[in-house]
Amino acid sequence: MALLTHSVAHLLSERLAAYQQSGLLRQLRNADGLVDFCSNDYLGFARSPELKAAIQQADVAQTRARTGATGSRLLAGQTTLANVVEEELARFYGTESALIFNSGYDANLGLLACLPKAGDTLLTDELIHASMIDGARLSYATRYRFRHNDLTDVENKLKQARESQKNGQVFVAVESLYSMDGDVAPLRDLADLCDRYDAALLVDEAHATGLYGPNGEGLVVAMGLQDRVLARVHTFGKALGVHGAAVVGPGILRDYLINFARPFIYTTALPPTACWQFAALTCT
Ligand SMILES: Cc1ncc(COP(=O)(O)O)c(C=O)c1O
Repeated sequence: MALLTHSVAHLLSERLAAYQQSGLLRQLRNADGLVDFCSNDYLGFARSPELKAAIQQADVAQTRARTGATGSRLLAGQTTLANVVEEELARFYGTESALIFNSGYDANLGLLACLPKAGDTLLTDELIHASMIDGARLSYATRYRFRHNDLTDVENKLKQARESQKNGQVFVAVESLYSMDGDVAPLRDLADLCDRYDAALLVDEAHATGLYGPNGEGLVVAMGLQDRVLARVHTFGKALGVHGAAVVGPGILRDYLINFARPFIYTTALPPTACWQFAALTCT
């Protein structure tokens, strides 16, 4: 039995009680047999017999593949399949390269923690997802939060960043379609501001993936802005109905993430089955 001293038990129950009193207590509830009015399976893909059949077919074709990746892709976990799928993802999302992460959370954490360094500045919308917030917290860059979708506030913070850190790189991180309010970022205006202040735009496309663009490539492609955004995060656990994520952008960004993104380096890669899922989604 795990050691739980009286004082630790008291501490935990006090914190949980305070959470409950504020109406914030989280509990796991079984969703089996319920009608789905709340998940991120926007297109019903997670329940699609066609997608399931395509994944099973790919599964059967790969008889010699391992069940698990067996390690980080920098050790034994690298497969040709992952590279092929990443090339396909890059083509699909209209950019040079893609790098698969185990989840959208990992992708945002890795990207925001390693790209802006000490001496750089990271500007984030106040409504970005927890994974971006956590990544930003791990970065040594100077951080500013701007009011949600407020271009005047973005510009003020960009000016502030340029005045206080003349030599550092400035990054601006937003979602394209916000999970909190369901509204859309003014991406074109943000890209214009980034151009004006020599900043790099990072866009989390978690909720736009599969829903916007001619083939579901997301809002950046829908607006023709793919050459004005440094990195996009596409997650596969929402409208695409499976799991995992990719950061897409220039080839050098992929090389950088392979070297510095800790949630990519220090974790067991997704199993080959997950890659077949992406293959079934993107290569068909
Ligand atoms: C905006 C946004 N980004 C990233 C994530 C994380 O994606 P994943 O569920 O693949 O970890 C979520 C998930 O809720 C999200 O809403």
